[in-house]
Amino acid sequence: MGMMDDITALAKRRGFIYPGSEIYGGITGFWDYGPLGVELKNNIKRQWWQAMVYEREDVVGLDAAIVMNPAVWEASGHVSGFTDPLVECKTCHKRFRADKPEQLEQHTAAHDGKSEWTNAKKFNLLTEVLLGITEPKELTYLRGEITQGVFVNFKNVVDSTRVKIPFGIAQIGKAFRNEITPGNFTFRSREFEQMELEYFIKPDEKEGQKIFKYWKEDRMKWYVSLGMTKTKLRFREHEPDERAHYAQKAEDIEYEAPFGWSEFEGIHHRGDWDLSRHKLTYTDSQSNEVYTPWVIETSGGVDRATLFFLVDAYVQEEKRIVLKLHPKLAPVKVAVFPLVANKDTIIGKAKEVYAVLKKKFVTAWDDRGNIGKRYLSQDEVGTPWCVTIDYDTLESDTVTVRDRDTTKQDRVNVSKLVEYFSSKLEE
Ligand code: GAP
Repeated sequence: MGMMDDITALAKRRGFIYPGSEIYGGITGFWDYGPLGVELKNNIKRQWWQAMVYEREDVVGLDAAIVMNPAVWEASGHVSGFTDPLVECKTCHKRFRADKPEQLEQHTAAHDGKSEWTNAKKFNLLTEVLLGITEPKELTYLRGEITQGVFVNFKNVVDSTRVKIPFGIAQIGKAFRNEITPGNFTFRSREFEQMELEYFIKPDEKEGQKIFKYWKEDRMKWYVSLGMTKTKLRFREHEPDERAHYAQKAEDIEYEAPFGWSEFEGIHHRGDWDLSRHKLTYTDSQSNEVYTPWVIETSGGVDRATLFFLVDAYVQEEKRIVLKLHPKLAPVKVAVFPLVANKDTIIGKAKEVYAVLKKKFVTAWDDRGNIGKRYLSQDEVGTPWCVTIDYDTLESDTVTVRDRDTTKQDRVNVSKLVEYFSSKLEE
């Protein structure tokens, strides 16, 4: 089995990610996050919001509706321009994206080098929605990018807050695309989550370039600060014919996945495309100058980030599988083990420690099998620390804290445990 198969199997076995609607045979391009997966994904979103909203003075948040007036998608250019080129294999009628030559070559090889393709047709990625109960129903779309909700609320935000250009609006939420070829686990799904910043600036060529550079470097640093391996990350600039209809310049952050270098965040210079299409302007409160701001966007995929944090953390050692997730991202921070499951004094003390830790950190309890097996079980889901309550605890009020990465053990006073883990989490 390749590494992606190992990770997919681990994700299912330990409750990170399950195939969508599995008991009915699944549904292509949809995935469900299990008890550990939802924690990991929420931690990524929380860290993003912390860095992009709370730690900044120039960014505010928003949570717009998924379904919008269809006029939004006409104006934004998605109804006419949000397309992928599709070709069909004339032998087996399978459909592929014409702009992914590796996939076409692979398929041709599977037909002994003899595939013939139909001409490329443009295929719109928006997912249609029918609203209402009487005919004719109202046709609209599930949002193909979360972004338009920010633009249509641009005036609302300016009028209801104290923001002044330059400023940003941050948003996290679900987006939907009728992808032609969903695949590579969650990498290309039909329902996924995005975390985006739309940063509004006064139109100026030099300023635009400066802000673009600032955000692309800032976003790269964020992934590295949460433990992603630097050498597995790179920027890749889009060729003019690859760019989305709204972008004048686009650079991707890519990760070297087991299936090749793959985009998981895009930094886009959208110019005045969106605001001018929605006929929105900004009035400078001091000079009264009226203009259409430009937009620099950072658009990350939450599911792709989750996948690549998992892939990057996955280490197969001789005797164990470890997810070396950054402690801030780890779904469970601490696991508490009573040394034995049949001594009331030990169980009682362990329950006390568990109750204290559980109020501060996501904490697991495990009293099954031997301690070695419990360590292995926590290593596999990335729990950074395990606390064992043993006979010494009853005498000295100290416990063993075992570190996931080094496997070294520390003896810590029970009354100091919360402080101990809090300071480790801040490291
Ligand atoms: N608002 C700009 C925008 O949507 P994009 O490059 O089309 O730009 C941004 O998408 C990010 O959204 C991608 O880098 C990726 O992480 C995520 N994304 C896009 N399509 C996806 C899909 N089918 N499955 C999972 N994530 C996807």
